[in-house]
Amino acid sequence: MKRFLVIAALVALPLPAFAQGGAQANAQMIDKGRALFNDKSLSGGAQVSCATCHPMNGHTDNKTYVGLDVVPDGDPRGRSTPTLWGAGTRQAEWSWAGNIPSIETNIRGIIVNRMKGVEPAKEALEALAAYVKSLPNGPAPFLSPDGMPRDNAPADVKRGYDLFAGKAGCMTCHVPASYDKKGPEDVGSGGAFKVPSLRNVSKTGPYFHDGRFKSLDEAVTFMWDFYKKKSDSKDTLGDADKRDIVAFLRAL
Ligand code: HEC
Ligand code: HEC
Repeated sequence: MKRFLVIAALVALPLPAFAQGGAQANAQMIDKGRALFNDKSLSGGAQVSCATCHPMNGHTDNKTYVGLDVVPDGDPRGRSTPTLWGAGTRQAEWSWAGNIPSIETNIRGIIVNRMKGVEPAKEALEALAAYVKSLPNGPAPFLSPDGMPRDNAPADVKRGYDLFAGKAGCMTCHVPASYDKKGPEDVGSGGAFKVPSLRNVSKTGPYFHDGRFKSLDEAVTFMWDFYKKKSDSKDTLGDADKRDIVAFLRAL
């Protein structure tokens, strides 16, 4: 009888209540993932947690690593820590190589290979993935949801956007709203790498897979020189143009 009542009650639930149940299960999963993200026992010898390298709720510690060792920025073996902010909104595949379609597979690799931890349970991977994908981008008050500058954005940000989308050719690879794209590209930086998202980019240096560039100015100059050559463009970008592009990047 009691069982029948429970079933009757479930059947009678209006749709929004079901949706709410789903949201609640997801919130529990995210909570579990957050706890695991801060749990050092995921690593061999309980040395580090995910949050050691991705502090401030999944951001970057701005360091370049081989395994668990910090190496000088620009070391070709090194990989700079990406921010996980906005991870759920990305178009690119995972890792700097940009060739891992599933985030669970990527996180498993990090636990087993980088952190030398034991094989994680499927549920743990799902919870970590749910947490990572729940992380919002940092604040971008001059950006509309589609990734374009708002009307109230400063003039240099708007000029920078026009160059970025226009003659500078950046948008052929960095596609809004996340400013990345599917599929790695070889831009002459030592192989094919993912087109990284440029959201939050003012806070994610050093730049490129190996952390070779300290400043956005250097990264923009490299990218423009590459694009100009590749597209055989007759256009030029002056110092003022590059400053405007950097102003736009800082607004992302
Ligand atoms: C020792 C520092 C370190 C630790 C600990 C660490 N990471 Fe990372 N993480 C990195 C580096 C460096 C990369 C880039 C590696 C690469 O792509 O080759 C990365 C990449 C990632 C990516 C891919 C992001 C993208 O946009 O492609 C995800 C997701 C991620 N880490 C999540 C985690 C999780 C979850 C944990 C804990 C289980 C963790 N990381 C622990 C340094 C670390
Ligand atoms: C052909 C595709 C392509 C074009 C065009 C392109 N980029 Fe990139 N961009 C990439 C790739 C791939 C990387 C990563 C390279 C690496 O890690 O070695 C990158 C990296 C960057 C980074 C560093 C981000 C980080 O987190 O390290 C910035 C900044 C950037 N691009 C800005 C620009 C700007 C500005 C333009 C236009 C002048 C541009 N890109 C044009 C593919 C492209």
